[in-house]
Amino acid sequence: MTHKLINSAKEILSENDLGTYTVPTHGLYPFQWNWDSCLSALGLARFDEPRAWTEIDTLFEHQWDDGMVPHIIFHQEDSGYFPGPDVWQTRREVPTSGITQPPVAGYAVRKLFERAADRELAARRARALLPQVAAWHDWFFRCRDPERTGLVAIIHPWESGRDNSVDWDSAIGRVPTDGVPPFTRRDTEHANPAHRPTQAQYERYIWLVQLFRGLGWDNSKLHDASPFRIVDPGFNAILIRSCTDLAELADILGEAEIASKSREYATSGIAALEQLWSEANGQYICLDRTTGEKIDSPSVGGLLTAFAAIPNSRAAAIANRIARIGETAKFLVPSHDPASPDFDGLRYWRGPVWLIVNYMIANGLARAGETEIVSRIVADSVRLIEQSGFAEYYHPITGEPCGGTRFTWTAAMVIEFLTQNET
Ligand code: DGY
Repeated sequence: MTHKLINSAKEILSENDLGTYTVPTHGLYPFQWNWDSCLSALGLARFDEPRAWTEIDTLFEHQWDDGMVPHIIFHQEDSGYFPGPDVWQTRREVPTSGITQPPVAGYAVRKLFERAADRELAARRARALLPQVAAWHDWFFRCRDPERTGLVAIIHPWESGRDNSVDWDSAIGRVPTDGVPPFTRRDTEHANPAHRPTQAQYERYIWLVQLFRGLGWDNSKLHDASPFRIVDPGFNAILIRSCTDLAELADILGEAEIASKSREYATSGIAALEQLWSEANGQYICLDRTTGEKIDSPSVGGLLTAFAAIPNSRAAAIANRIARIGETAKFLVPSHDPASPDFDGLRYWRGPVWLIVNYMIANGLARAGETEIVSRIVADSVRLIEQSGFAEYYHPITGEPCGGTRFTWTAAMVIEFLTQNET
């Protein structure tokens, strides 16, 4: 069975491979997405190391001068996606979006380097990427943490990767929709509308894009101008983990300055994360930086923190919390607690299970020694694939496949889960 699943995963990776980058899936997402590419590179590396490095190189070829790495690179025209380059208007030779995504690149580059069979190639490619990833991290702490709190804010729900999470409901509700012209969504032509964000949410997503576009995509202005500024513990944990991994890689490659700066970011991030701990929820929760209020929403964002080196007592509490959720959810880890009234098991990030999230949580909890819950998360992930194929996400109680099909990063994560004892 393992062999068969790995072969099917490999087929999906090839099918979605456009030579120098992969699309997440044909139709629904016809361009290169930032964190999709970084996580998918882990799967590509199992069969073709040079191709895996190219996936990340291609992404960083489109890094902005200020250090930001955009969330979408529109390599070729495709009218099947909205909002396309005409809406973003970022005025780049190869058009990109103007916002970013969870910065998992530092983790991915280190992982590719540490596993590489071709050591010479890995050293060369990692050395070239190191300053680029470091510049992205610097950009985050400069532009998204202007008051130097140690934690960065996202300024658009799409940046989180968890687009329509319950976490954003009240903040996105404050975003107006005036001046948003009528538009035709394309996502609901490729995927079941009941699995996607609502029209009201899309109008607010577009309002924010129009606001930033009006400010010329000047990142020295966007953070303070955005009415949507959220400190997401999961997003920050990914950044912190990437900083830690970049520091370790920089040490190996003799780049002392990058190593010490990255370590400083990680240390202050871990310390600051503690403010987001919620005893009542038994997990971390988000902070709305616009109002200064914590957001009382038990989403997977607070569990994803396990990916960073949080204190062992916190990792143990998160393992307990996931085990409790697992009493209701047949498949771990739902993106929102099924016991919450806002849970919706089919709708994108309001309940479904995502394998990339499972992978990052399992990776972090394994490092913290929480082996029992890790085994359950891995077993549930593999059962989902056996039952429902390589979907974008899954209902945590029925296992129903949701969103797009034949998904690149789902395939990559299956390869990771099934070969995890090899690294
Ligand atoms: C989408 O189009 O659904 C994406 O999540 C935005 O990046």
